[in-house]
Amino acid sequence: MSEAVLTVEKLSAGYGSLVVQRDLNFSVRRGEVFVVMGGSGCGKSTLLRHLIGLQAPLAGRVLFNGEDFWARSEDSRTALQQHFGVLYQNGALWGAMTLRENICLPLAAYRRHLSSAEQHELAALKLALVGLAGCDELYPAQLSGGMRKRAALARALALDPQVLFLDEPSAGLDPLSSLALDELILQLRDSLGSSIVLVTHELPSIFAVADTCLFLDSQSHTQIALGSPRELLEHGPQPVQRFLRRGEAAHSEEAP
Ligand SMILES: Nc1ncnc2c1ncn2[C@@H]1O[C@H](COP(=O)(O)OP(=O)(O)OP(=O)(O)O)[C@@H](O)[C@H]1O
Ligand SMILES: [Mg+2]
Repeated sequence: MSEAVLTVEKLSAGYGSLVVQRDLNFSVRRGEVFVVMGGSGCGKSTLLRHLIGLQAPLAGRVLFNGEDFWARSEDSRTALQQHFGVLYQNGALWGAMTLRENICLPLAAYRRHLSSAEQHELAALKLALVGLAGCDELYPAQLSGGMRKRAALARALALDPQVLFLDEPSAGLDPLSSLALDELILQLRDSLGSSIVLVTHELPSIFAVADTCLFLDSQSHTQIALGSPRELLEHGPQPVQRFLRRGEAAHSEEAP
């Protein structure tokens, strides 16, 4: 089993006096797809904000490569953030910029030593990686919804992140585009060796891509299950088993 890239210990997630989730404990291993699930409003995006350094946890620790992320100075946290690629839930591309310009934004911030020709070349490579070769000069409005998601993914990949965070990337996509996105996620995991933390409600996606699943509960405000989809299907709490069984049936039907 490979080592943990992110470890969460006794984490309370929330805002000021609002505790959204408490006592969260889990690790994301190098190269795995780690899926975060739970009903709307249970705190999935909030958890991500604590993991990527946007919002300090209310209690507990987040370790990145074994080091307490939030114990570091703000500057050193900002420096570490270059190892995270993020596709935000509502994260749109900048509409007044071409795809190339969008992807060059993180490069301009963290790869100042690169010439603009080199940055453009990297942007073109990232676009090719997500199936958008040659779209460098297009504006987001000229793309379909699925293409926009992939372009935003290309931007999240700009700095070759160690961990890629995807917050409901397939929301609003048709099932076929959603399937294509799952395949792309697996391809990226295999070719880049990055860990992927994926928030999704899509049951078919879970069986297709997840190595590990974390279920957050909005009533008890804590995690109710952690394990591979297969383990949870057999040994998880009843509500989690019931939920997964529906997805498993759909996944087996897809098999050739
Ligand atoms: N910036 C904020 N300040 C205060 N409370 C917030 C903030 N953002 C979210 N919340 C609250 O935190 C709780 C969890 O929200 P969050 O967005 O993390 O849920 P979620 O699981 O991602 O939901 P969804 O599946 O709908 O995206 C909600 O009660 C929400 O109102
Ligand atoms: Mg959310």
